[in-house]
Amino acid sequence: MHYMYNGETKKGQEYFLFPFSREFIAKTGSNYKNWFYDEEITKNNHHGLFPYGKEKFDKYLDMCESGKEEIVLGVAISNELFKIDVNDDDFGTLNGLSLTDHDQDRQDIAYKAMEKHNSKLVEGFNENPFFCKCKNLDIREYIHIGNISLQRINFINGSAEFAIVMDKEYHGQGFATEALHKLIDHGFNKLNLHRIWSGTAKTNIGMQKVFKKLGMVQEGVFKDATFLNGKYEDIVCFAILEDEWRKQNGI
Ligand SMILES: CC(C)(COP(=O)(O)OP(=O)(O)OC[C@H]1O[C@@H](n2cnc3c(N)ncnc32)[C@H](O)[C@@H]1OP(=O)(O)O)[C@@H](O)C(=O)NCCC(=O)NCCS
Repeated sequence: MHYMYNGETKKGQEYFLFPFSREFIAKTGSNYKNWFYDEEITKNNHHGLFPYGKEKFDKYLDMCESGKEEIVLGVAISNELFKIDVNDDDFGTLNGLSLTDHDQDRQDIAYKAMEKHNSKLVEGFNENPFFCKCKNLDIREYIHIGNISLQRINFINGSAEFAIVMDKEYHGQGFATEALHKLIDHGFNKLNLHRIWSGTAKTNIGMQKVFKKLGMVQEGVFKDATFLNGKYEDIVCFAILEDEWRKQNGI
């Protein structure tokens, strides 16, 4: 599985952008479907209004994998908490520490990792966390933390819209800003776009901060344009043009 881009947040956390696909979901053991029913994640958007059945997901994944209409990328971080060294013949290592060592700190880290990833990653781990064979394991090298997409791509107008959803556990750490920076760069430098835009409910303060951090300019407000949690809300629309992007990023 190959990533398209990687980079670091301002806080030094590495992230990876993978083509979003069935393979990516399987390899990361992603539970991203649950994001669409999460109150915190959906409070400012229209995800989860209708149940997402298999047919709907299949159609969406077919579209993502076709790579034709939209560019959909999964944002991932490497699974540092539970890195298993498979080169070792008999035993795994946890953050570089041997699982055979009887040390309370290591035990705590190991259990935390198991809890966090609800994992059947290591056979026999629950019986004896310090003595588990590491051959033929289903190793989750990456954790899926969000999705970004470039949609409504129009090569006549040279325009596209972006969208994003991040798992709530990873909000406020700079991942959205950094991942979208790469996506916008891809739009201008690889796809030869001229204008990239996006909009969000006025109640979505985090998203508006991200727009501004990306150097986007507010172009307008659509009054009462979205119905959220029992009432109509305004949508604020932001955009950036290619020359503004180049100037801001010194390209
Ligand atoms: C909106 C969203 C993409 C922001 O992602 P993120 O990874 O938290 O963004 P960043 O970490 O790059 O943060 C950008 C800034 O907004 C702030 N922020 C994030 N969520 C916030 C919130 N709910 N309220 C206030 N500020 C918030 C961050 O602290 C950060 O500010 P700082 O640079 O001053 O510290 C994410 O919250 C999300 O996926 N929400 C659910 C889906 C959604 O609303 N998508 C957009 C639909 S249009």
